[in-house]
Amino acid sequence: MKIAFVGKGGSGKTTLSSLFVRHLATTGSPVVAVDADINQHLGPALGLTDTEARDLPAMGDRLGLIKDYLRGSNPRIASAETMIKTTPPGEGSRLLRVREDNPVYEACARPVELDGGAVRLMVTGPFTEADLGVACYHSKTGAVELCLNHLVDGPGEYVVVDMTAGSDSFASGMFTRFDITFLVAEPTRKGISVYRQYKEYARDFGVTLKVVGNKVQGQDDIDFLRGEVGDDLLLTVGHSDWVRAMEKGRPPRFEELEDGNRRALSALLAAADATYEQRDWERYTQQMVHFHLKNAQSWGNERTGADLAAQVDPAFVLREAETATA
Ligand SMILES: Nc1ncnc2c1ncn2[C@@H]1O[C@H](COP(=O)(O)OP(=O)(O)OP(=O)(O)O)[C@@H](O)[C@H]1O
Ligand SMILES: [Mg+2]
Repeated sequence: MKIAFVGKGGSGKTTLSSLFVRHLATTGSPVVAVDADINQHLGPALGLTDTEARDLPAMGDRLGLIKDYLRGSNPRIASAETMIKTTPPGEGSRLLRVREDNPVYEACARPVELDGGAVRLMVTGPFTEADLGVACYHSKTGAVELCLNHLVDGPGEYVVVDMTAGSDSFASGMFTRFDITFLVAEPTRKGISVYRQYKEYARDFGVTLKVVGNKVQGQDDIDFLRGEVGDDLLLTVGHSDWVRAMEKGRPPRFEELEDGNRRALSALLAAADATYEQRDWERYTQQMVHFHLKNAQSWGNERTGADLAAQVDPAFVLREAETATA
């Protein structure tokens, strides 16, 4: 299951992603946590020291390796240089699985021990001014998008992405790569404005979007959110002393998280799991092709000097391996 946390800066994306990842770890499910935000904070929120977080390998620095592994022997992708962030897999491409070991995880993922078990953590790497200027070709989240487009995940295994709600993810199609997107919103007009923008982009692509109210203090806050987003409001989370203690560098055992917040995390998981039934690999593949053609035309062909539309394998559909029948 592919799950994104998006929202306005400071709304609580990282906090809620990290709590959700901790919750998943207690269930024993395999988890890959990905920090794809401009502000890279997921590592510390999962308990890493600043030094440990700084030493994490950056996916953005290992794009060559990622591309070479994923393109495998796909004859339509002649070189890593012509592989852009939206290049879709085809016959001969290598696919990623949540549970396996592979060279991409080996290069880019690090285990993080949590109460209940370890998860894999991957980070795009911190963004610099220069990155933000040339958001297309060298986009750091491009590495995440490539991985999501080559991932064949099944129920009970999770990829959780702490994401920014920036324009980069709309241009590239990144926002369509998830089974469910949790939009974290404080009960303020600014929090809601990001929701409206997201909703508009999401509408045409069948994106499952649910609002998670955060830092909610009372019924008035809940009423406000309900009035603004209606049934898209999944649940609300209040101030957490557990989170505050963690921020002070004194993380309590996870089992000491407040009951209400624990219930909220269970509800998030239930909502994510419930989307599996609607999963449609054909549509998922069509959407990646749609965004690839769009990116090829708007900048990719010119930048690489190749006809990137030719990378599309018309017969290919990304999907889970058929389980062998006896
Ligand atoms: N429910 C909560 N209870 C207590 N503190 C919270 C809660 N949610 C968020 N915070 C605090 O609010 C601050 C911002 O949260 P967080 O870093 O998760 O937001 P973000 O959306 O990831 O921000 P950024 O856009 O900077 O990445 C943090 O100090 C965090 O500890
Ligand atoms: Mg954050």
